[in-house]
Amino acid sequence: MGIVYFDQDRVFKLDTPHTSYLIGIVDEDNFVGHIYYGRRLTDYGLTNFLRTNEPPFVPSVNNRERISFLDAFPMEYPTHGIGDYRESAFRVRSKGGHRACVLSYVSHEIFAGKKKIPGLPTSFAKEGECSTLRLTCQDKCLGLSVVLNYSVFEDVDVIARSVEVHNMGTDGIMLQKVASMSLDMDNRDFEMITLHGAWARERHVEKRRLGTGFQGVASRRGEPGHQDHPFMALATAGTTQEHGEVYGVQLMYSGNFEIRAEVSQYTSVRWQAGIESEDFGWMLAPGEYFYAPEALLTYSFAGIDGMTACYHDFIRKHVIRGKYKNSKRPILINNWEATYFDFNTEKLLSIAKEASGLGIEMLVMDDGWFGKRNSDNSSLGDWQVNEEKLSGGLAHLVNEVNKLGMKFGIWFEPEMISPDSELYRKHPDWAIAVPGREPSQAREQLVLDFSREEVVEGIWEQMEAILRGANIEYVKWDMNRPLCDLGSALLTPEKQGELPHRYMLGVYELQERLVTQFPDILLENCSGGGARFDAGMMYYSPQIWCSDDTDAIERLAIQEGTAMIYPLSTMGAHVSDCPNHAVGRTTPFETRGYVALAGTFGYELDVTRIPEKDREEIPRQTALYHKYNDLIREGDYYRIASASENHAFDCWQVVSKDKKESLVTCVQVLASPSRRSRIIRLKGLDETKRYRVEGEETVLYGDSLMYGGIQIHNLKGDFAGKLIHLISE
Ligand code: GLA
Repeated sequence: MGIVYFDQDRVFKLDTPHTSYLIGIVDEDNFVGHIYYGRRLTDYGLTNFLRTNEPPFVPSVNNRERISFLDAFPMEYPTHGIGDYRESAFRVRSKGGHRACVLSYVSHEIFAGKKKIPGLPTSFAKEGECSTLRLTCQDKCLGLSVVLNYSVFEDVDVIARSVEVHNMGTDGIMLQKVASMSLDMDNRDFEMITLHGAWARERHVEKRRLGTGFQGVASRRGEPGHQDHPFMALATAGTTQEHGEVYGVQLMYSGNFEIRAEVSQYTSVRWQAGIESEDFGWMLAPGEYFYAPEALLTYSFAGIDGMTACYHDFIRKHVIRGKYKNSKRPILINNWEATYFDFNTEKLLSIAKEASGLGIEMLVMDDGWFGKRNSDNSSLGDWQVNEEKLSGGLAHLVNEVNKLGMKFGIWFEPEMISPDSELYRKHPDWAIAVPGREPSQAREQLVLDFSREEVVEGIWEQMEAILRGANIEYVKWDMNRPLCDLGSALLTPEKQGELPHRYMLGVYELQERLVTQFPDILLENCSGGGARFDAGMMYYSPQIWCSDDTDAIERLAIQEGTAMIYPLSTMGAHVSDCPNHAVGRTTPFETRGYVALAGTFGYELDVTRIPEKDREEIPRQTALYHKYNDLIREGDYYRIASASENHAFDCWQVVSKDKKESLVTCVQVLASPSRRSRIIRLKGLDETKRYRVEGEETVLYGDSLMYGGIQIHNLKGDFAGKLIHLISE
């Protein structure tokens, strides 16, 4: 059992394979304090870390200076309005309009396994793989119970935290902020690592030193967005890929979020992650519960690579579900960049026919098959087949594609409504809007109010009819605009602040229905590229479209940032045509293949119209996919060189769990006249194993390859990239 309670010291010790997390209960007020999180320890009696033995002392010793205590004590879940002036994790407003809240420990429970959070994506584990601590705290004055959940995994260094609020009183209480986790630590000259971007430039890695005061990332878009990401790491000064201590947190949530660090007057850091609080307000009636989503915490003393390894293993084992959890995905060809809205049955079949002969396994029909959608200005919400385009209907098209030996996939954007749609003409109140104010459009569309059951139901009925009407084996679920003008026609004024989270609950409900009622369908999430790429979505879809930028060189930075916390098996990556539609760059077809092989792999082009020599390359690429995908999907990933940092050369490596096989991918972005070769030092191999480089005479021990390195030759301007396959003898 990874969780032990030491009664005499009133200390909880939570252990994962290499980390410990200690919580202490102190004083007569039963304050819950944070003692330690980091490398695994043997001792538990470390209550001196709480500094209650030094001035200002605990209130029972020095009630005169209660505020000084509260403003310095490392709180496990700090509350508002009582004299801790740092950022609170939990804020309420009582019926009387008061904000003060004190949470004191009342009881706890430790059990094997973990429970599902109602309505929310939740990491899971078998009984022997995980144990959970439920710490119940109460504010007796408010009649509020707050349960802090900690699930500790036996096989990977992750602690999943979540929070449950129960109104046990007789009056409604307005919840204004419910963070999923809070962590008080001494600042060790931390650097903050975050992922930032824009449309077609998602998840670029950014590092900066923590300064006094507040810093962090947040979204009020109703989804994480292209701009910020629900992840932050705090790394000790000088941390590299291989060395240094790294704390990571990511949210298993796909809506508004905030992750902030505050460096206080005493140079301690308060670190929090949860639902964004400015656009949040939840009226909790007597007897009701509120559940905050999970925060996935990790700690590594082996640099960024250590954090990456933990998150990859965790997501693959404890987040992703379904038929495709541990299996190869079909190689798809998507018609978006091939045809945009200009297609019909004949055109799609011509693509499928050509593709099937080249080793491509599934045709995905993207946007434009429904209503009267011939551009992006109409028909969202009208999920009926446009038979003018698809003559003979959907089933005919799918049958013809199946006859070619290919699977068929389809695109939906279920959360949206076009003002020019039958659905909007019938149900204008189904769109999110403020009464009397015209809501802002984006891509000429509005957002459906998924907080309403009948809206979710209405969309589901249409989707289900389509999915039952033909042999559909894949769904791309898109979401192409953020939320604004927040207003729901059904919520009372005091409940309007619940809309963004209720919206997410509706989205999750519909995705849950889809994956449970159609368990054989492969679901790929997408949001204008990668605006909703998070562990919450991965609970429903094992892969997510990474970015609308399919340029191989731009993708290096996007995939580097994405792979820092998500397994390669989740990254939707396709080979597209050149000049690239997003940036206009031309790259060798081989390069595009090497970069897409690091993800789910597929094509996004008109295979009937690309140059003959590119088409000839496709069977070689699809063969590479089949040869390497098990390794890429299941192996340990290492970052070797970053073109974002060195502006010339990118390199990553995957090593099989048994260390018998490894694949190294190199891509050059800038040739140097004086530099025709590079030595790269590999990682993760077995020092004592001899590895043969496939296709070469070279046979070297793992230690030579890791500490000496391997030479990459012929780095001239036309170097299209290289795969190096190592097999142990
Ligand atoms: C978004 C997606 C694209 C494509 C279009 C269709 O931008 O990211 O892949 O599906 O929508 O409108």
